[in-house]
Amino acid sequence: MEPSTLTGTMARVPGPVTVVTTIDGDGKRWGFTASSFSSVSLDPPLVSVCLDKGASTHAAFATARNFLINVLTEEQHAVARRFATSGIDRFAAGDMQTCELGLPGLRTAGVRVACSMHSAVDAGDHTILLGFVEEAYTSDRTPLVYYNRAFARPAPNASRADQDFSACHIADW
Ligand SMILES: Cc1cc2nc3c(=O)[nH]c(=O)nc-3n(C[C@H](O)[C@H](O)[C@H](O)COP(=O)(O)O)c2cc1C
Repeated sequence: MEPSTLTGTMARVPGPVTVVTTIDGDGKRWGFTASSFSSVSLDPPLVSVCLDKGASTHAAFATARNFLINVLTEEQHAVARRFATSGIDRFAAGDMQTCELGLPGLRTAGVRVACSMHSAVDAGDHTILLGFVEEAYTSDRTPLVYYNRAFARPAPNASRADQDFSACHIADW
């Protein structure tokens, strides 16, 4: 399959917008925007984020002891762009504060998931950062969505009467 066919296909799959952060042994902060955040396992509690091996942040994350996934809200598209921009100080805006595990995070994130590194798994041109979930923060803020190479808002809730959770066996989700 041509790479463009795969990227074009995946562009039609909506994903979350996150900023993943860590601090290295010298106290330097690192972060990148990622839509590849996913849950992996309940027991043990594992989540994953995929990071391009060519990214400037790769060495820091591949060897990190822990990392923090900030799930952005509908107002935070500028933060997503900043943490995807090359050659700038992504932390210069000063909006990152010390959060779970002492890592830099957004107090106004929709969700934060703090992980210790379970393993960094080789996966083609990416590394899968597999995180053991240590702490989590949730809010009712509306998340930002990435779809068709653009930022979007989630669809408004369908009315309960239109949904049949039991038939779909997704009540636990
Ligand atoms: C919405 C969005 C989602 C992204 N998701 C990922 C991702 O899941 N994994 C990844 O490696 N890069 C992802 N990127 C690209 C990185 O944020 C970043 O631009 C890239 O790593 C280049 O950064 P560098 O200058 O650090 O090399 C995404 C960018 C955007 C705008």
